[in-house]
Amino acid sequence: MWHPTIKDELSENEFRTLTIGETPLIIGRTSKGYFAVRDRCSHQALPLSDADGISGRIFRGLFECPHHGAKFDPHTGQARGLPAVKPIETFEVKVEEGTVWVKLG
Ligand code: FES
Repeated sequence: MWHPTIKDELSENEFRTLTIGETPLIIGRTSKGYFAVRDRCSHQALPLSDADGISGRIFRGLFECPHHGAKFDPHTGQARGLPAVKPIETFEVKVEEGTVWVKLG
């Protein structure tokens, strides 16, 4: 089911967090466009977006976890930097009528 999330106004390397139902999400943008991932690192199941006020970040197309520095391709979910080796969960996204939509379930 598709859900409307944020306005199509993020710049490259920006992201927002939100929760739909019980699913914490990161919606962000790289040079490849928008992505949506579950806000949960595959290393220790901590939030990717925040570590006690230190924000996660998008750098060179990868999302970097602020806890221990694991890196992920946010479009495919693949782990691209230790200590994570498992992927994170990704969701389909689309932009329609100025809104970013995410498909859950
Ligand atoms: S919880 Fe993300 S790198 Fe450890």
